[in-house]
Amino acid sequence: MKTVRPDGIVVAIDGPSGAGKSTIARLLAERLGYVQVDTGAMYRAAALLLSRAGIDLGNIEAVGRYCHNNMDIRLESNSGSRVVLANGMDVTDQIRSPEMSLLTSRVSSLKPVREALLKSQQNMGRRGGVVLEGRDIGTVVFPDAEMKFYLIASVEERARRRCEELNRKGQPVTLAETITDVIQRDRQDSERDIAPLRQADDAVPIDSSDLSIEDVLEAMTTLSRNKIEAVSARL
Ligand code: DC
Repeated sequence: MKTVRPDGIVVAIDGPSGAGKSTIARLLAERLGYVQVDTGAMYRAAALLLSRAGIDLGNIEAVGRYCHNNMDIRLESNSGSRVVLANGMDVTDQIRSPEMSLLTSRVSSLKPVREALLKSQQNMGRRGGVVLEGRDIGTVVFPDAEMKFYLIASVEERARRRCEELNRKGQPVTLAETITDVIQRDRQDSERDIAPLRQADDAVPIDSSDLSIEDVLEAMTTLSRNKIEAVSARL
């Protein structure tokens, strides 16, 4: 028997870095009138806090103590734009550098970090009416999500998009460097022991390599709306 959620369904979007999850999740949430939860941003904020606090990532007890006692990560909306707050500080921009991406990939493999963030992600989505994006939403965070997507794209296409994005923000990275980073993060994210990146059995796979954002969004919106209707018809 499925849980009935008061605010709508849970839409899970998983996939490797650079597949377009964030853009798609934001637009899909807007179209459905849902809240977007970027779980990657939460892992990035955790990595920033741990590194600023000088915690030795090899010392799991120290990481656990810090996550339990000193870490407060929130996703909030501020005049229409989404901000990431780490212990009250706005870290929205700082968490996006290539160095932070690699550090986050490492930090997100640590059990106490995942345990701490899992709880808050489940709380954020509990009532439904949310689009959550990440790596383990459909497999671990909400295995009972009503709608699951697995968004992929080729390594070259993902690196090209990431490189353009970073260059636009004034970060001078090359395509070759970005390809190396993408491959390394893919490996770290899918080979880790806890909650590795993996397609849930009941997720709809979408390869965005040769599709426009609009095409991907259209397909995902139609499937999500059909699911919302089917769920409300069952009530
Ligand atoms: O989606 P992103 O690139 O902002 O994610 C940053 C890192 O966090 C990435 O290496 C994978 C990790 N992550 C994770 O392990 N689980 C999630 N649900 C979301 C992100």
